Amino acid sequence: MVCYLESWAVYRPGKGSFDVEDVDPKICSHLIFAFAGLGSNSKIKVLDPWHELCKDYGECAYNRFTALKEKNSALVTTLAIGGWNEGSTKYSNMAMDPAKRKTFIDSSIALCKDHKFDGLDLDWEYPSMRGGKPQDKQNFATLLLEMSDSLHSNGMILTAAVSAGKDKIDGGYDVPKMAQALDIMNLMTYDLHGDWEPFVHHQSGLYPYPDDTGDNKNLNVDFAVNYWMEKGMPSSKIALGVPLYGRCWTLDDASKTDYYSPASQPGEAGPWTEEPGMWGYNEICYAQTTHPDQWTIKTAPGMNEPYAYRGRLWCSYENHTSVAIKASYAKEHNLAGMMVWSIDTDDFRGDCNARPYDLIKTMVETFSGGIITVPPPPPTTTRDPSAPTEPTTSTTTTTTTTVKPPPDDVCTEPGNNADPNDCTHYYECAPNGSGGYDATEEKCPAGTLFSPTNHLCDWAKTVCAEGNVCVNDCA
Ligand SMILES: *[C@@H]1O[C@H](CO)[C@@H](O)[C@H](O)[C@H]1NC(C)=O
Ligand SMILES: *[C@@H]1O[C@H](CO)[C@@H](O)[C@H](O)[C@H]1NC(C)=O
Repeated sequence: MVCYLESWAVYRPGKGSFDVEDVDPKICSHLIFAFAGLGSNSKIKVLDPWHELCKDYGECAYNRFTALKEKNSALVTTLAIGGWNEGSTKYSNMAMDPAKRKTFIDSSIALCKDHKFDGLDLDWEYPSMRGGKPQDKQNFATLLLEMSDSLHSNGMILTAAVSAGKDKIDGGYDVPKMAQALDIMNLMTYDLHGDWEPFVHHQSGLYPYPDDTGDNKNLNVDFAVNYWMEKGMPSSKIALGVPLYGRCWTLDDASKTDYYSPASQPGEAGPWTEEPGMWGYNEICYAQTTHPDQWTIKTAPGMNEPYAYRGRLWCSYENHTSVAIKASYAKEHNLAGMMVWSIDTDDFRGDCNARPYDLIKTMVETFSGGIITVPPPPPTTTRDPSAPTEPTTSTTTTTTTTVKPPPDDVCTEPGNNADPNDCTHYYECAPNGSGGYDATEEKCPAGTLFSPTNHLCDWAKTVCAEGNVCVNDCA
């Protein structure tokens, strides 16, 4: 049971606030601290020094995290490097240069030793994408092999978080070499759908939805697991990722709630995670428990995972039943185990289940024994051929922003920024930690344009209907 911790969960308000000592050290085999970054000198970089380090009266989160082993001697505590906000370009530049790779690896191992981490988790999102280059595929494999050698000779482990998307697997991953380098591969089988698409769907369906067509048929857990194994990743190295959060939209029409119903806006932010487009499982279950009358909870035909809506807010998420099915699936496929993003959004206080951490505990119990039968995949039907084909977009992981640098040429704020002269693309702007931004250009999928109002790619006709925007592209 691999559990990521979002270190910034400590800054959440009220019942959402989660610090290192809120971790139950007995329920996960591997705990991963997210994230460290990559500095311009090619060395690993501490991203929140005051919270993570002890110096200058800091909060010592790294040391407190690895000290959790005192309560469970079998626990493995590692440090993740990368994540969505770090972008891809820096990693691409480091991985192509043998000297920079060595600097990166040596500095990372030194940081691990200083804080008693048991190894590293590389979370480069993604080789050859988002400003990366085609050679990243080989350079990433080389980097992992070198990291693996150095870490192993220091008695530490190497894992990596990898995409479940076919295009990212094809473009960025030399699977046989990765299989050689990695001790465990954390498969991010979530964010398969989200508010960057103008319709609702499940972010982590085990199987395709019967109405899926084209590329959407591949955006499910079963496809990703099989595809990785087909390419050469042994099942025994794959930890199956399960999101302990929901992906949420604002429905265009509160009466249209089935999958593929139009939803051109992200869901309103949750009360504790405070980010549009996602709610922690703890927020969803608490809201449902305290106001059961406001919510409708459903499962789509042939699917195993719940979705729920309240007015125009619509979220796809996981519950006790769906995580047990996924753990059972993992066991049937001889996978290494389960992975969660992230431990801080399980029902860690036990506010809405009979016990704290019900989702993680349920996966452990199912995987290690009480197997339940995995339902078969639904039959695929062909329906309404006039339905629009869906744009394929990149998947995201959770983003956070603590500081807001001043505007530069293409970035005025963190997140997705429009180019007022060209709506076929946009810039993804992440604060670079020293007062500026790292900007990555992203193209909108065919048939869509970037909406400067909603900050996402939406159907061209919807964006053009917003009025006085994208005039060059709407002619
Ligand atoms: C989980 O959601 C499903 C719908 O997908 C529902 O049938 C099931 O009862 C829910 N499980 C629990 C424990 O609430
Ligand atoms: C961050 O951006 C600022 C402003 O563009 C720049 O001066 C600085 O060198 C950048 N820092 C890094 C680490 O890239």
